[in-house]
Amino acid sequence: MHVVVLAAGQGKRMRSVLPKVLQPLAGKPLLAHVLATVRGLGAQSLCVVYGHGGEAVRAALDAPDLAWALQAEQLGTGHAVQQAVPHLPETGPVLVVYGDVPLISADTLKRLVEAAGPQGFSLLTAEFADPGGYGRIVRDAQDRVLRIVEHKDASEAERAIREINTGILCCPAERLRGWLARLTNQNSQGEYYLTDVIGLAVEDGVTVQTAQPSHDWETLGVNDKLQLAALERIYQQEQARALMSAGVTLIDPARFDVRGELVCGRDVEIDVGCVFEGRVELADGVRIGAHCVIRNARIAQGATIHPFCHIEDAQVGAESLIGPYARLRPGTVLAEDVHIGNFVEVKNSVIAAHSKANHLAYVGDADIGSRVNVGAGAITCNYDGANKFRTIIEDDVFIGSDSQLVAPVRVGKGATLGAGTTLTKDAPAGQLTLSRTRQQSLPGWQRPVKQKKTES
Ligand code: UD1
Ligand code: MG
Repeated sequence: MHVVVLAAGQGKRMRSVLPKVLQPLAGKPLLAHVLATVRGLGAQSLCVVYGHGGEAVRAALDAPDLAWALQAEQLGTGHAVQQAVPHLPETGPVLVVYGDVPLISADTLKRLVEAAGPQGFSLLTAEFADPGGYGRIVRDAQDRVLRIVEHKDASEAERAIREINTGILCCPAERLRGWLARLTNQNSQGEYYLTDVIGLAVEDGVTVQTAQPSHDWETLGVNDKLQLAALERIYQQEQARALMSAGVTLIDPARFDVRGELVCGRDVEIDVGCVFEGRVELADGVRIGAHCVIRNARIAQGATIHPFCHIEDAQVGAESLIGPYARLRPGTVLAEDVHIGNFVEVKNSVIAAHSKANHLAYVGDADIGSRVNVGAGAITCNYDGANKFRTIIEDDVFIGSDSQLVAPVRVGKGATLGAGTTLTKDAPAGQLTLSRTRQQSLPGWQRPVKQKKTES
């Protein structure tokens, strides 16, 4: 099977510099959704028809399996498919889909292609209560498809027809070429309609089969930001539905967004307002508190992420407790039972089991052993303004509050840093290291007393 994707529409109603088919749905361009779906069908060739100014589309989504056909002027859907003809094989079924209809499913397309068979013609149609604007399917007394009439060209009687053309069709390449060559633009819009191919096929004695989408919303197109938001909600509801069917607890499926792939184990619970991006894995028993943003991360069994955490390119170990208000940046690898508390930032650091940084700390470019306690306000000074250096903290260390560890530096096993220490040299194992002036009290010292102002 060969696929032609129509994507030459400018999308003026988006009122955006970004071409319509690059507008993101669930974090991914509309056209990328369609390409992913048709690639899943195992298409032998894929041709995208792009429009004037659509170089950005090509640049954003080019891939070795794609052919690009420029439609310099938008003269209609039939004209658009004509631009793809040089890229089509001599024979074989051709599936035409739209780049701005992102939710079309592989199941629906498979049924459409099967309905056509190797030599036949099939159309994806739907029954809409309000068919206004769509092309209508005109059938004969035996219910056979005769032709499609565009809304603008339709009579009153034809406008009463509720079966509409979704625009998606499948027909043999060898016949399509001839039909496209016979199209004219003698219609109310002065365009070459792809839909006129149906009438020509029927004239040639071809029976046009129809198939229906699994869900009507699969055929919805995007023209403006309102429709984009509406499809985003449908997409998110579907993800939520699939996850809940697989046993995930979503406190409110309407307040949940996956912009990528979310893989969940058993008994995972996700509170409201969370956003998952890239590939995120939540193992058995993981709990995610409200309003977390988690991107490209693995959260191991039984870990709890409290509300308002931001986690990116990180791994969280089993039974760990993160947040509220924690930030795990790229390169964070936490072993089991690690506690990262409020206003703690961790970056490019490995923290071994049972260690804790519970309050207001920065751990960057550090290797931290097991059972380490990082006190409130402790900071690894990993950057001298030009280069970055590592801090090594061995097992069972206690870092006193408000300490600064000026990297490169090492704290030996079992060492204690006194509160407020500025560590610039390695701290030996097992000892107390501190760097602060000795505390003193001055007996007899008195506070200054405010002087009375003399009148002048
Ligand atoms: C088309 C169908 C109509 C169907 C409707 C479904 C025709 C003549 N009509 O109408 O029967 O009910 O879709 O939504 O086909 N495009 C190009 N180049 C062009 C024109 C369009 O690439 O010159 C692309 C658009 O970017 C879009 C798709 O083709 O992805 C459909 O175009 P659109 O203008 O929305 O067609 P409709 O008039 O809505
Ligand atoms: Mg349209």
